[in-house]
Amino acid sequence: MSVPPAASGQTSPGAPEDRATPVSSGGATPILETRDLKVYFPVKRGLIIQRTVGVVKAVDGVDIQIMPGETLGLVGESGSGKTTLGRAILRLSDASGGSIRYEGEDVLALRGREMRRLKQKIAMVFQDPYGSLNPRMTVGNIVAEPMLVHKIFDDRSKIRDRVMELFDTVGLNRSMATRYPHEFSGGQRQRIGIARALASGPSLLICDEPVSALDVSIQAQIISLFDRLKVEQKLTYLFIAHDLSVVRHVSDTVAVMYLGKVVEQGDADAIYRDPQHPYTQALLSAVPIPDPEVEGKRARVVLKGDMPSPLNPPKGCVFNTRCPIAEDQCFVDIPLPRTFHDGRQIACHVVSRGIDSGSIAAPDARINGRPLESREGRVAAGDGPPRESPFGLLGTEPSSQRDKPIISRGRLAMLVGVVLLGVWIAMYLGNFGLGAEKEHSIVPSAVIESRIDEFIDGFDCIREDAVVQLDLSNASYARVLYLKDNPSKPGSYLPPRVEYRYHYAEGTIEAIPEVTDFCY
Ligand SMILES: Nc1ncnc2c1ncn2[C@@H]1O[C@H](COP(=O)(O)OP(=O)(O)OP(=O)(O)O)[C@@H](O)[C@H]1O
Ligand code: SF4
Ligand SMILES: [Mg+2]
Repeated sequence: MSVPPAASGQTSPGAPEDRATPVSSGGATPILETRDLKVYFPVKRGLIIQRTVGVVKAVDGVDIQIMPGETLGLVGESGSGKTTLGRAILRLSDASGGSIRYEGEDVLALRGREMRRLKQKIAMVFQDPYGSLNPRMTVGNIVAEPMLVHKIFDDRSKIRDRVMELFDTVGLNRSMATRYPHEFSGGQRQRIGIARALASGPSLLICDEPVSALDVSIQAQIISLFDRLKVEQKLTYLFIAHDLSVVRHVSDTVAVMYLGKVVEQGDADAIYRDPQHPYTQALLSAVPIPDPEVEGKRARVVLKGDMPSPLNPPKGCVFNTRCPIAEDQCFVDIPLPRTFHDGRQIACHVVSRGIDSGSIAAPDARINGRPLESREGRVAAGDGPPRESPFGLLGTEPSSQRDKPIISRGRLAMLVGVVLLGVWIAMYLGNFGLGAEKEHSIVPSAVIESRIDEFIDGFDCIREDAVVQLDLSNASYARVLYLKDNPSKPGSYLPPRVEYRYHYAEGTIEAIPEVTDFCY
């Protein structure tokens, strides 16, 4: 099959006469860059002994770049991995491979204090203005919280002044600061969320569908607020959205995601004017054009079926089950992103046939005038080709090991017996008032340990504000962690394993008790 016919008036992006003007970069360092970023979620089965039976490839080898002061619009169907990519950048989801660089610094290598510094510089605005605000805190305290967490001011009156300034910035009345989130409309709540995101003085805002829960007129107000803040506060945005018209309005560059991969990426105007990847063409053909004549002449591409599960991605090109121009090769080989003359990157066997070999991404190739390492280069450098797993089974293990139980039946029976005996002994002791103190809830130590790791400072101590820093972004409570003395090794502690839920009362962030000076 040949290169897909371009819509009327369209030419190949590789054609010299239709080169998109590169976004100005001047060879500057990107503020954010991901290379071959992967986020895989293991799917586990088993009641007592859990084994991994598959893996959800939510993000699978993503390269993106955002230059300071620019907005990258990230679009794609539901489930394509947009939120997971945003969360991985903020280290809210663990990356399974690849790299993330923020101002040249390796984000995945950051720990402790450096990690906290990064979280001050990157903030997130969430989709749900209702669920993302703590209903038990006044909105003034909600906006003040990041300043307390990051110890931006020592003086409470300065925090109060800054909260008032932020209220002005996002267009909220200062007198509203003592009210609670339920007393606000959706648009006002989103403004509160934006004020909270700005409180730590970030340079990069990750906006995850920030307007999709709002009605159209409020959407317009929030979008123009983002526009204004971009200029006033010199912000850079990763703007995730379903609504392609909104993305077009706000974006300098656009990345189109499908099933965990970026299929087309480049200058926003060029992509909207002349989409090349069949998926981008289908997506954009659904965007209404406000000119009835042009709209009437336009061909609409309707994709058949649903996006496959990322647990069971198709072999070859992930889009092959719905692609109107798929060829035999598409069912075998994974298309690698290639760079067109206009700097755009497209991952498609058929479309890239229209490019001469000289435009394929080489190690010195540039996207929108910026250098980008090619996937081929990485493969040549020994990273190996991306491994595709057939039908969702673990792609990283040899097939002979995939379904092998971790433990034999005999051992499993013995283990169950020991556990039951333990439970019986605990109940017996409990009846006599012996045994451990009652705990509110117990969570697996691994969960807490991995979180606590982030809050250990350079002296291997858990900082006194560790608790306040946990899960603040989207939580209605703080987790208070208790370490227990290790009886067999005096002076050391057992792995933390107890989680108390503690609801904030208004203005009592400091009142979280007894969580200081935990040192290993
Ligand atoms: N913690 C998790 N465990 C397992 N699978 C997950 C997890 N988080 C996300 N996924 C899966 O990863 C895929 C991508 O999810 P993600 O939320 O990133 O998509 P999205 O593009 O943001 O979708 P939407 O537009 O609906 O918000 C989905 O199939 C989702 O089910
Ligand atoms: S590589 Fe994918 S998008 Fe390109 S023609 Fe083949 S199936 Fe379609
Ligand atoms: Mg999402």
